[in-house]
Amino acid sequence: MELKQAIMERRSVRQFTAENIARPELEQILEAGIWAPCAGNLQEWEFVCVTDPAMIGKMKVVSPGVFWKPQAIVVVCVDGTKAGEAFGARNAERWSIFDCAMAAQNMMLRAYDLGIGSCAIGSFNAVAVRELLDIPEHVRAELLLLLGRYEALPQPPPRKAEVIHWERFGNRGSGREGGST
Ligand SMILES: Cc1cc2nc3c(=O)[nH]c(=O)nc-3n(C[C@H](O)[C@H](O)[C@H](O)COP(=O)(O)O)c2cc1C
Repeated sequence: MELKQAIMERRSVRQFTAENIARPELEQILEAGIWAPCAGNLQEWEFVCVTDPAMIGKMKVVSPGVFWKPQAIVVVCVDGTKAGEAFGARNAERWSIFDCAMAAQNMMLRAYDLGIGSCAIGSFNAVAVRELLDIPEHVRAELLLLLGRYEALPQPPPRKAEVIHWERFGNRGSGREGGST
């Protein structure tokens, strides 16, 4: 798949079919995560991939943002100790959240490339997820990534082109000839 197609056509999928995702496909998605850029190449992230339907059911109960049952959930976590030691208290959270976001985006694009739907979920109880999955105290669950097969992609929610500024803030006209597409 063309990169442009993956970027433009990936959608947040919230309705999944019951079709399985094979382990090698999950491995490819997780591998895309670890190849994301990250601050200082610290790789302070941890990815917990859950496929057990019973556990997914339990996670759903503590995650108001999850409506349908996916085939897998990747819990994108940060090792707070590693981040604190490397980045200092002031920057640890900021950099590690950027790093998680980059990894999550890589995984979502790779999933789409493999014909697998995904949705990032911020609305979940991190403490309950920690307890369910034996995540240690110094590791924080930042984001859930739902993965599953889908019948149809949702319509794309509209984008705001006015957030793009050329040369100076507020200049929304083109700063150069031609477009990028
Ligand atoms: C950090 C983050 C948290 C999100 N949390 C939720 C969530 O809790 N529930 C949900 O249904 N979608 C969630 N989403 C998905 C967004 O709603 C979705 O990306 C946005 O509406 C744009 O749609 P698209 O991904 O199809 O382009 C989240 C996305 C991000 C990046």
